[in-house]
Amino acid sequence: MSTSKTNSYKIAVVPGDGIGKEVMKATLDVLDELDIDFEYVHGEAGDECLEKTGTALPEETLDIIRDCDACLFGAAGETAADVIVKIRQEMKMFANLRPVKAYPNTNSLSENIDFMIVRENTEGMYIADEESYTDEGAVARRVITRKAERRIIDYAFQYAKKNNKSKVTAVHKANVLKKTDGLFREIFYEVAKDYPEIATEDFYVDATAMYLITQPESFEVIVTTNLFGDILSDEGAGLVGGLGLIPSANIGEDSALFEPVHGSAPDIAGQDKANPIAMMLSAIMMLRYLGENEAADKFEAAILKVLNDANILTGDLGGSATTAELTAEIKNNL
Ligand code: NAI
Ligand code: MG
Repeated sequence: MSTSKTNSYKIAVVPGDGIGKEVMKATLDVLDELDIDFEYVHGEAGDECLEKTGTALPEETLDIIRDCDACLFGAAGETAADVIVKIRQEMKMFANLRPVKAYPNTNSLSENIDFMIVRENTEGMYIADEESYTDEGAVARRVITRKAERRIIDYAFQYAKKNNKSKVTAVHKANVLKKTDGLFREIFYEVAKDYPEIATEDFYVDATAMYLITQPESFEVIVTTNLFGDILSDEGAGLVGGLGLIPSANIGEDSALFEPVHGSAPDIAGQDKANPIAMMLSAIMMLRYLGENEAADKFEAAILKVLNDANILTGDLGGSATTAELTAEIKNNL
């Protein structure tokens, strides 16, 4: 293997608040060991940034994210909605990817869980168009457009194809929401015709909530609308043992942001206790997005070894190692 780093990328690095900064540092420490040339452009966002600059998400940070090949985001604190939700909207990151995968020696319901939730990120209930609040009650609109749903469903099938998955499951509530989710289901089977090699099925969201517990191994790729995806992906996190291990990606036409699902964890911030694996797995998703599959496999294998050995684990995984110790061990395993 050559020692000179070949491919080079410009990466926006937005650590944010609390443990966001700690898990970001740990992750960059490992990325630096790979044979890839990363130019990091640091951006500020979050509670501290608000205090310092008067805004939680400066225009400059958005520009940095726009200008880079991809963004690594740590976590924001109380300003999370103003930061991460706004970035997703500004960058039109239409796909939210939340992998649910059981790793060894974690508190997983089954060791064979490995599926991807592909969640529509731009419409559905989360346009948050709550049009009225009166003495009688309140009303919100739910929007499903052909364009956005076709895009996310096609994304799910493309994902399945690229990752050798044999089945895509559509999740909806078309028996009650006949127009909005009826349309979603209709488009699902239209798009499916372009992928005859991939099996399909569709379930109601309530039944899916149960199947995730009773037969989690049966899922490969789930595609669903915004609110259902939000809820099922937290259920997915619960299936495989907690926030310290769950990465995510937000993908747009020409931008992508990778972040752990957890927040700034003020209860353990600044104590070198945070589990950096969720952030690291997010960086691994970034490597695959950039086409750096070999580096991604190598990084993931180093994490797998640390989990398999189970000697050096952070508190959330039942160990007593520090963030720094766990990171050093992962670097050793490379
Ligand atoms: P949280 O994810 O920060 O923490 C929940 C619990 O899990 C805490 O006990 C924490 O110590 C633990 N935990 C989380 N990540 C961990 C890790 N990597 N290693 C070990 N333990 C970990 O969620 P919480 O407490 O609801 O919110 C705290 C702050 O984070 C709030 O200000 C909230 O607004 C923000 N937040 C930000 C998000 C984002 O930036 N995407 C997402 C969720 C919350
Ligand atoms: Mg959520």
